[in-house]
Amino acid sequence: MTALVEVTGLEKSFGDHRVLRGVDLAVDSGTATVLLGPSGSGKTTVLRSLNVLEIPDRGVVRIDDASVDFASLPRDKRERNRAIGALRARSGMVFQAHNLFPHMTVLGNLIEGPVQVQRLPREEAVAQARVLLEQVGLAGREDAYPAQLSGGQQQRVGIARALALKPEVLLLDEPTSALDPELVGEVLAVIRDLAAEGLTLVIVTHEVRFARDVADQVLFLDGGVIAERGGAEVLEDPREERTKQFLARVLEAR
Ligand SMILES: Nc1ncnc2c1ncn2[C@@H]1O[C@H](COP(=O)(O)OP(=O)(O)OP(=O)(O)O)[C@@H](O)[C@H]1O
Ligand SMILES: [Mg+2]
Repeated sequence: MTALVEVTGLEKSFGDHRVLRGVDLAVDSGTATVLLGPSGSGKTTVLRSLNVLEIPDRGVVRIDDASVDFASLPRDKRERNRAIGALRARSGMVFQAHNLFPHMTVLGNLIEGPVQVQRLPREEAVAQARVLLEQVGLAGREDAYPAQLSGGQQQRVGIARALALKPEVLLLDEPTSALDPELVGEVLAVIRDLAAEGLTLVIVTHEVRFARDVADQVLFLDGGVIAERGGAEVLEDPREERTKQFLARVLEAR
């Protein structure tokens, strides 16, 4: 099987700080990958590079049939933007804090991208938004403003908003870390459902128990390289000393 997502030799520096030092990874269609690692190891930068919110210095990112070699981007600006746009459109991003538009209702937030970016007719976008709200357990809340929702509900709208653009892979960056503990479960439940439905997921999370349940693949990032990779068993029985130490710290913090 050809992987849906393939990253080779990804490198990124901020000034003289080498944050990603040659990251290679592959994600099969319909699987969930959990990306773990200490603060500053480059997890967010990997996700942002996949969604091309960050332009890597070197490396190839391919999602399905859209591929960009960042070492040799097209010189022509329009061509470059087209290549980046095609790649970006294949993934959707869910951020730590939901980033909803505060002045728009839930429905407004959900149809903004499809109508403005994808030129979907408004009625279709609304119909699709209703289905997505149902999927994240928020049927009937389309007229609420973000401030009228709990953090967990806002984050579920954030997930629905990313899904509204029909990404082939959903990237989630610590989707529950900004939430009060009692709201974490409802968001993880939605992500679990998406995994069960076969959506391809890449999730940065420190929720180890959740990771154990959903992960088909575990990647442990340390110092800008993938220090260990494997199936969910990596979480139970890591080989590398730094993975062991990291997991011990995370589990202790719970
Ligand atoms: N835009 C930026 N400009 C300068 N440095 C940055 C930028 N973005 C990230 N960095 C640095 O790159 C390193 C990796 O950051 P990144 O956010 O990818 O780490 P992370 O693994 O997601 O960490 P955390 O667990 O704290 O979210 C950090 O040292 C960070 O300070
Ligand atoms: Mg991060």
